[in-house]
This record gives sequence, C-alpha cells and structure tokens, in this order.
Amino acid sequence: MFSTGLLALVAILPAFVNAQSPIFGQCGGIGWSGATTCASGSTCTFSNAYYSQCLPSSNGGGGGTTTTPVGTTTKPSGTTTVTTPVTSQTPAAGNPFTGHNIFLTPFYAAEVAAAAANITDATTKAKALSVANIPTFTWFDTVSKVPSLGTYLASASAQGKSSGTPSLVQIIVYDLPDRDCAAAASNGEFSIADNGQANYFNYIDQIVAQIKPFPDVRVVAIIEPDSLANLVTNLSVQKCANAQTTYLACVTYAMQQLSTLSNVFSYLDAGHAGWLGWPANLSPAAQLFTSLYKSAGSPSTVRGLATNVANYNALVAASPDPITQGNNNYDEALYIAALAPLLTSSGFPAHFIVDQGRSGVQNIRQAWGDWCNVKGAGFGTRPTLNTGISAVDAIVWAKPGGECDGTSNSSAARFDFHCALSDADQPAPEAGTWFQEFFTTLVTKANPPL
Ligand code: BGC
Repeated sequence: MFSTGLLALVAILPAFVNAQSPIFGQCGGIGWSGATTCASGSTCTFSNAYYSQCLPSSNGGGGGTTTTPVGTTTKPSGTTTVTTPVTSQTPAAGNPFTGHNIFLTPFYAAEVAAAAANITDATTKAKALSVANIPTFTWFDTVSKVPSLGTYLASASAQGKSSGTPSLVQIIVYDLPDRDCAAAASNGEFSIADNGQANYFNYIDQIVAQIKPFPDVRVVAIIEPDSLANLVTNLSVQKCANAQTTYLACVTYAMQQLSTLSNVFSYLDAGHAGWLGWPANLSPAAQLFTSLYKSAGSPSTVRGLATNVANYNALVAASPDPITQGNNNYDEALYIAALAPLLTSSGFPAHFIVDQGRSGVQNIRQAWGDWCNVKGAGFGTRPTLNTGISAVDAIVWAKPGGECDGTSNSSAARFDFHCALSDADQPAPEAGTWFQEFFTTLVTKANPPL
C-alpha cells in the first residue's frame, strides 16, 4: 500500500470545550465530546452523522433533527445488521448495502479470537473479542485464497435463508501483476514479465466461478486498492509506468467479468483525500475512472468508488490535521464532495464507500503520506449506512484492523521505508500478517470506544 502526501509544518490548534455551545457551534456528532445543548435562541440541528450545529431557532433550526448515536447491532448468527439511517437522510437509490446482513468473515474472527487469547487484561480482552462482530472486508490477495470465497458464500447463503434477510459478503480484489508499483510492502505474487496478465485474468475467472453458484448472496467488491491512484500520480515511478497498460487491462477485465453476475456490486479504489484529493489530481482522477468505466461498457454493477482503504483519514475531521496544510480537501467528505461533481458530469456513478476502520484517532501522523502501521491508531466509526452524506453508501471497515501494512525489517525483500518512519509502529511483521501490538492499540484507542 502506498500514498502520497506533503510534509507540513506541525501546528498546535487551540482546543476548547464550553458547557453550552454558542450559536453556530458544534453540538453533536460521532466523536463529539463537547456540549450537546445550545445557547438560548438556537437549536441543535442535525447536519450529518458527524456534525450537529446550533442554528438560530428562527432560522429553521427548530425544525431539524438531532443526532442519533450510530452503531451496529450484532447477531449471534454470524452476520451483523448495519444500521440503516435513523435521521432525515434519504438513502441513495440502489445502495447495494440496503436490506442485507453483512457476513462476518470467519478468517478475521479467528484472527481476533487468537489475538484476544493473548491479552491478559480482562477489559481489553472483552473489547478485543467484540471486534469479531464488526464486519470487515476479506482480501483475496493471492489466488490460493480464492477457493475460500465459495466456503464463505455457502455459509452466507445458509444464514440468509435461515434469517430471512439476505447476506452480503464484502471482498477485496487485490492481486494485480506488479502490484503496489510505487511501494514495496505489498508487492504481490504475479509479475507482468512472467505471464502476469494471464494469471490475473485466471484469478478473476476463479472469483467469478466461486460466486456464480450463489446468486442469493450479494457481494460488494472493492477493486484493486491503490492501483488507479498510482496511475494518476506515480507514472514517474518506472514500475508504475511499465504497469500502466496491464493495470488498465486487468481492472477492465475485473469490472467486466464481475458484472456478468448481477449480485456483485463493485467500487473502484480511489485512494484518499491526501492522494487524489489534492486539487491538481481531482480532474485527472475523474477522467481516468470515467474513461476506464466507459471502455468497460459502463457496467451497471459498478456502483462507484471506495476511498481511504487501509488509510487513516477521518470522514469528517473536527478540524484539519496540520499535516493536510495546502489541501482544502482535508478529509474524505471534502474529497468526495470535490470529486463527485466531476464524476457526475463525465458520466461515472458518484457513489462511495469509505473505510473508517482505523480512523478513530486523528492527528497522529507526521506527514500525510505516512501510511504504514501508524502509531497510536484506534478503531474508528463502526460500519453503517447512516453516513450523513447522500453520496456515501456506507462507512465500512476495509482493512482488517490488526493485519499489518508492511514489515519494518529493513533487510526484508518487501521492506518499504515508510514502515520504519518514527510514526510507524515497530517492530512490524510482513504486510497482511497479524500485528498483535498494533491490534491491541487499535482496541484501546477505539473511537467511539468498543
Ligand atoms: C497486504 C495484503 C493483505 C491486506 C489486508 C495489504 O497491505 O499486502 O496481503 O491481505 O493488506 O490486510
């Protein structure tokens, strides 16, 4: 995984808490711990899941709704019901998450159970165990993992039948040849020079074959984290320039083949605010997504874009992290708001899902481009359809919290210097493998708390 960013000066912003919020002050929202009552003459008015504001009562403030806490309700059956909007937000038509129970991946549940067994403190252990009930995506980062998809779908199908609510399985398609072309930590198993494109097509064919017998299970797929963003900003890196045509052919093939199944909904990965959200990158990004989508035949099951996958940005930041200086799109909501109109006008479906799995604690990075095992990260907002933003179908947990971003061992073949920066938690094992200390920190620093 890789992301670009600019070094910014560190500034300390004043923090203040009032007993009662002033007119136009914040009075609620996820992560808000300040006053929830408003100065006389104003009413706490819901703006989005992250922000309620004291608006003058005579100015429409009295007519608004107030924020309602968001969370997930878990079921012992192995699925979890993601909350549907409880506010005035109208769910976007065609949101593929609506009306489904999200399948809990047994692989992640097993990782979490094993991790919890190694935690001695009873309170932390209980919190850690509760993470197994929060849905995450399953990454198919090698072709050898693909057969397990059929096993998951069979369980998900059975759960859907017994509960009466269909299941939804969340997957990440992640096996491009010359993968992670601008970084080293997640270099993959296929190489372009060694039949990589044909191997990738076969990988996609195998995924399609696994899904085909289960038309009753909905599948949401994130397509190839970082790949297209690298083609927008990192063509100066030789490996990315060499990979360009192959990435385009492979992502097109993935979109087209997955679209032969009407129960699969795909979101192309779109980096994050600190990458494609820089003003100069927005248009090139929109153009790339749109041209690829159109050349694939505008598949109806391509739903939109996934942002912040495995990154650490807030959906709505309470205030800009100083490292974002220079980019007005300092959080995912601002990035999405800037990108969406460009997509809509060029004919790409402007729907989004946003990873908040590890975004619970903000202002912990020294530079926005720091992406590897960021020290002090906490689990973030739980998956929900109550996003407060009509273009955002769902807040998701895409990166399974506790799985490593990359090794800090400088002699490893996949060593990337980002994983040895001073804000990277160390010592860190290989990307994708379990990082116990990092997981425990995610648990203890979770925001909202577990
Ligand atoms: C790794 C993958 C892993 C994924 C999810 C990536 O950074 O390269 O192997 O499956 O993260 O943890």
